[in-house]
Amino acid sequence: MNLKYHLHFNQYIFIIYSRLPDGLYSLPLADILIDGCYIALPMAEESSGLRVQREYGERMRKALVERSLLDRSRKIRADETHVYLPVLDMDAASSNNLEQIAPFEPVQIDFSLEERPATPEDILGYRPSFEVVGDIAMVEEADAEAVAAAIMATSKGIKAVIAPVSDVEGEFRTRRFRHIAGEPRTSTIHKEHGLRYRVDLEGAYFTERLGTERLRLARQVRPDDFVLDMFAGVGPFSLLLAKKGAQVVAMDKNPLAIKCLKENALLNRVQNIEILEGDAAELALGYEGQADHVIMNLPHSASSFLVPAMRAAKSGGVVHYYCIAPEDDLYRDEALIRKAAKEMGAEVEALYRGIVRSYAPRRHNVVIDFQVRGQI
Ligand SMILES: C[S@@+](CC[C@H](N)C(=O)[O-])C[C@H]1O[C@@H](n2cnc3c(N)ncnc32)[C@H](O)[C@@H]1O
Repeated sequence: MNLKYHLHFNQYIFIIYSRLPDGLYSLPLADILIDGCYIALPMAEESSGLRVQREYGERMRKALVERSLLDRSRKIRADETHVYLPVLDMDAASSNNLEQIAPFEPVQIDFSLEERPATPEDILGYRPSFEVVGDIAMVEEADAEAVAAAIMATSKGIKAVIAPVSDVEGEFRTRRFRHIAGEPRTSTIHKEHGLRYRVDLEGAYFTERLGTERLRLARQVRPDDFVLDMFAGVGPFSLLLAKKGAQVVAMDKNPLAIKCLKENALLNRVQNIEILEGDAAELALGYEGQADHVIMNLPHSASSFLVPAMRAAKSGGVVHYYCIAPEDDLYRDEALIRKAAKEMGAEVEALYRGIVRSYAPRRHNVVIDFQVRGQI
């Protein structure tokens, strides 16, 4: 007996057909589990379409796409003379309009459903929250085992699943993790904006959630600008800006972050970068009045480093200041910025304020870009 499975997860009754010598029989099934993963195979059923001569097929397909009338959930069919294009419901005006494109005949036929790989949501019945860095998925502790099993069953690219057992903590802003599934490791290679990064999630800070913010900065930095990245981590700001042609000095106090950063400079063939291990409060003073851009990505304690950051900026230079702030007073740190500027006889002007991402209920990670002028 040759069995043929016809499933469409979550939306249709599962049906299993048994192909017997004398024809097709069907019987309903509750669900089917293969290798721990539900499979979704196309089930044909009658729906609306247009029968168009082959020579007009592509022209009509494009017209349907442009008008958002092509039913993308179904597969286009063809025979020797005609193409059959699955369509969504359309009104008389749309139908008349399509007649200008090419002659067609409305049909009701079996269009099989487009195959779609199963997702963790298909298995769990809800969309789990997790972050992917390289080939590692970081899941939340609450439903870690179930989510890990669903991810491993549906994502070939994920080789390890871990769950944080601590907050981001300490001076190096790292987290401790519990191994949940796959290979027992926290180190991986992550790709972002065309660059590759060695990341050790337990040993040095990294989040892919700042990827958009890094691009925002990259748009402001010009080739040959001098950039000081005070809290560089494994280098996602520094290397992106250096790749754009900026001269970058990247510093971090965490030896493991510096080790990864050096490896990442080599990995991406970036030479216009100086990498320094140590306390940015002291190291930044070696660059007084030089930087076009100073990056201060240490949101919980950036305010303690305002004076060395502003000293490193040249007159007219911009400091990119990140902090965590309550929803009802997002840019309260501007008072601290003005106070520090006053102490050192400089003037500051905020050029940009924005929420980078939500951090906790009613608390956000925000950025303030401010220009520094006239510092002594
Ligand atoms: C929030 S992480 C940001 C890392 C990186 N900019 C990123 O986007 O992935 C802050 C970094 O600052 C480093 N750090 C903390 N205190 C420091 C200090 N006093 N001097 C230099 N680096 C420091 C930590 O080790 C950590 O790598």
